[in-house]
Amino acid sequence: MNVPLLDLKAQYAAIKPEIDAAIADVLESQHFILGPKVEELEKAVAAYSNCAHAIGVSSGSDALLACLMAEDIGAGDEVITTPYSFFATAGAISRLRATTVFVDVDPITYNINPNQISSKVTPKTRAIIPVHLYGQMADMDPVMQIADECGLVVIEDAAQAIGAEYKGRRAGSIGHYGCFSFFPSKNLGGAGDGGMIVSNDMQRAEKVRCLRGHGAKPKYYHKLVGGNFRLDALQAAVVSAKLPHLDDWTAARQRNAKRYDELLGKAGLPIGLPAVVTNRHIFNQYVIRIKNRDELQSYLKQKGVGTEVYYPVPLHLQECFAYLGYKAGAFPESERAAKETLALPVYPELTDAQARYVVDCICEFVAKENAALAAR
Ligand SMILES: Cc1ncc(COP(=O)(O)O)c(C=O)c1O
Repeated sequence: MNVPLLDLKAQYAAIKPEIDAAIADVLESQHFILGPKVEELEKAVAAYSNCAHAIGVSSGSDALLACLMAEDIGAGDEVITTPYSFFATAGAISRLRATTVFVDVDPITYNINPNQISSKVTPKTRAIIPVHLYGQMADMDPVMQIADECGLVVIEDAAQAIGAEYKGRRAGSIGHYGCFSFFPSKNLGGAGDGGMIVSNDMQRAEKVRCLRGHGAKPKYYHKLVGGNFRLDALQAAVVSAKLPHLDDWTAARQRNAKRYDELLGKAGLPIGLPAVVTNRHIFNQYVIRIKNRDELQSYLKQKGVGTEVYYPVPLHLQECFAYLGYKAGAFPESERAAKETLALPVYPELTDAQARYVVDCICEFVAKENAALAAR
């Protein structure tokens, strides 16, 4: 049996007429950059995320960058985030010549450990970027409390977490800004790159809106040095067509996660399962933890099961961040997670038979490993 990590063709097959019509509409209009399709999506994402404002941008990476730019963060400033995330989180900070200050993750959720933030705050600290990894929100109450006490800005990296909730509050609606990605593998993916910034602060929203178009307001009168962070209409149309399906897809991902929990739990394997500690985990990824992760990944590959390691090298150990001076051992939980975690297929169209096959393969692997150990 073949079980890919993600099956976007299955998703497209299910909604082909809607996607094709949305694309045809844009082609008919020949209006490709910003415009009514982008505005329509901005309204819909703002409503979906319980935010007053939404600004369509070119990617999740540029969303983070534009928010930091809107706060005039640059050389001499420090920004706190975790080393166990996609590169873009810390990359945005470095691109502005600010200094990334890492805080380790909680080993249960893989999100920022709020107990370790305060000791990293200095007079140079300007912002915190909590990442809602794999689709579950970080523990936002203590993050916001520290930010309030120290006068820091909070930019939620919600690239993997659109629609996730923490104590009934949607991803992106708690911090000063929230950043989403419409990269195709996200729960709400476009047909290319795209992203969105949400905010409940009108002035901040206006500033990122201005920065998105080279800081011009009106056209050709540049108040700020921004960038070309514009969302294109084709992406907006595709994402808008998909948004009405998102809650059903999320429910299917949650159902698949629960099925894995039950099957893997029943099998009594030496595997760590994802913990749901917030009220709405959207399972962009279903990530297990196992000591001999690389061997399991190779075994599953042989069996036709697609998996992925998110992320094999924590950010503080990336070559390009060597100048920050962090050494191995600095963030033990991030380093352990990088060695032990593996994402299994959890996409909405995954069938019961496919999920059972994945679990059977994992059981076979564990049995083989145990037999090899016993024979030694
Ligand atoms: C946690 C996180 N932050 C930022 C990004 C950047 O988003 P994009 O790929 O749209 O630039 C991603 C997605 O890839 C991500 O997973």
